[in-house]
Amino acid sequence: MRTLTAEIVTDKNKLIMPHFVVEGRGVREEIPSMPGITRISVDNLVRDVEQDMHLGVRQVLLFGIPAVKDDRGSGANDRNGIVQRAVRELKKAFPDLLIITDVCLCEYTDHGHCGVVSGDRVQNDPSLELLADTALSHAEAGADIVAPSDMMDGRVGAIRRVLDDSGHTEIPILSYAAKYSSSFYGPFRDAAGSAPQFGDRKTYQMDFRNSREALKEVFLDIEEGADIVMVKPALAYLDIISSVREHVDLPLCAYNVSGEYSMVKLMGSNGYADEWGLVAEILTSIFRAGADMIISYHTRDVFRYNIL
Ligand code: PBG
Repeated sequence: MRTLTAEIVTDKNKLIMPHFVVEGRGVREEIPSMPGITRISVDNLVRDVEQDMHLGVRQVLLFGIPAVKDDRGSGANDRNGIVQRAVRELKKAFPDLLIITDVCLCEYTDHGHCGVVSGDRVQNDPSLELLADTALSHAEAGADIVAPSDMMDGRVGAIRRVLDDSGHTEIPILSYAAKYSSSFYGPFRDAAGSAPQFGDRKTYQMDFRNSREALKEVFLDIEEGADIVMVKPALAYLDIISSVREHVDLPLCAYNVSGEYSMVKLMGSNGYADEWGLVAEILTSIFRAGADMIISYHTRDVFRYNIL
């Protein structure tokens, strides 16, 4: 009876599994700050995705970690870069897999910022061309959706123009529209080696005191051509998810980020709480707030242990 009267229905098929891809063969490195998540080379990625697909996972988000980083993030739009190769191999092996790629420079720059830097300043406009070309290189490799996470102003429009001009009119943009400057990204930056080497990301990511600004960011991205908008992080931002849901008809994605994942893992492994109970409650709360889809490092566990 409780199931019959429950106000929302949750669905595992609305979860997206992130992966960290590195150079080499046979590589599988534990990420100490994210128990259960590894950095893997493309061959192991294909193997893991195959197993995940048997469990039922249908969509992935890819992050590339290049062997060398430089000041302009040249690895990001390299046609033979780590993400581009990962996409090609995955598409070849699993034509039905939905592949989303993270479009950003911070994993590729030696300074760790999400855009081009001059002096001690991140340069918004000079970053756009590089970001748009990175998105194009992902589309050329076979990505189904590109997801810019850099938070430079104008990047959704720049990406849309470049995709359209080169015939990729059918590739949607999932924009990290309301992305807050957050301590919850700590474990991710450890995983990707992408912590900024100077300053912080507060000049381009949002201030967590602001909620009206989130709507402004979302509407700007929609005007520029975003097809799906994202709120990130999720857990401390359920009010933002709910307000975007109220004002926007586009599909809404929420990112259950690394710090949210690791908190649950630590509580679970210490026996402080029932881990699967926490996962079910957290993911359900994000759906209840209004998200249509969730990017979550718990995705594999949700399928494996039938959590939702
Ligand atoms: C890159 C990016 C970040 C995350 C996704 N894309 C890190 C950041 O902005 O510092 C965070 C994801 C997570 O914490 O799980 N810009």
